[in-house]
Amino acid sequence: MSLLTINKLTESVGAEVVGVDPDRLVNDDSLADAVLDALEDNGVLVFPNLHLDPEAQVAFCTRLGEVDHSSDGHHPVAGIYPITLDKSKNASAAYLRATFDWHIDGCTPTGDECPQKATVLSAVQVAERGGETEFANSYAAYEAFSDEDKARFAKLRVVHSLEASQSRVNPDPSAEQLRRWRSRPTHEHPLVWTHRSGRRSLVLGASAHYVVGMDRDEGQALLAELLDRATQPHLVYSHRWSVGDTVIWDNNGVLHRAAPYDPDSPREMLRTTVLGDEPIQ
Ligand SMILES: [Fe+2]
Repeated sequence: MSLLTINKLTESVGAEVVGVDPDRLVNDDSLADAVLDALEDNGVLVFPNLHLDPEAQVAFCTRLGEVDHSSDGHHPVAGIYPITLDKSKNASAAYLRATFDWHIDGCTPTGDECPQKATVLSAVQVAERGGETEFANSYAAYEAFSDEDKARFAKLRVVHSLEASQSRVNPDPSAEQLRRWRSRPTHEHPLVWTHRSGRRSLVLGASAHYVVGMDRDEGQALLAELLDRATQPHLVYSHRWSVGDTVIWDNNGVLHRAAPYDPDSPREMLRTTVLGDEPIQ
């Protein structure tokens, strides 16, 4: 018998996990593998009304892999990063506006780190309107390509940059902002990521700046078209948050974004990131 009771939320992405409690997630040795398997199968797992406290969230993530501590210091619990537009709770709130565009975390690292394996978010406070987190399955997006498209896109390489994602939300940056964005190294990735598992997904989203060897405008039009195709409604699950929900997603096979919400909203999510060990290749 499976250790987890899982109900699919859409045809292509997302499943709800019922019947687990924080204590089991932290203490049950056999559960971590079952969660990782379910994550690989479904892309996104929703634990409704779990009320996982911050310490338990980090302990649970530690069972899934190595926890990212590079953003520590914004929350009293190490391994927790608060997501909020409220500058009194997070000094980097302005950067978070880029999360309103579809993206994969970790495509423009400061060094040569692999993209994060998985991200966990728990809702502390929610927006009255908006603020849903949306997920699109980039494995399914690749699968939906015709054989002709698969062959055409197999060799494409795309340069990703912080400038690309930030300039979408701030199209008129100061010279100083531009200098800061450009101080982050750019990264060239294949459009199609062939995973160790043999599965293939698309590496797209806000950080995708231009296609190598293609006219800038033509390449950007192609990237926009591919993103549209990858995020069609039937490939998307939109999570409407309730306080106490925890959601985990496979950052390697899922694009995500936040739906806009009132900047004065008290919405606050606590994030923990599990580091990846698989380069985009
Ligand atoms: Fe993100």
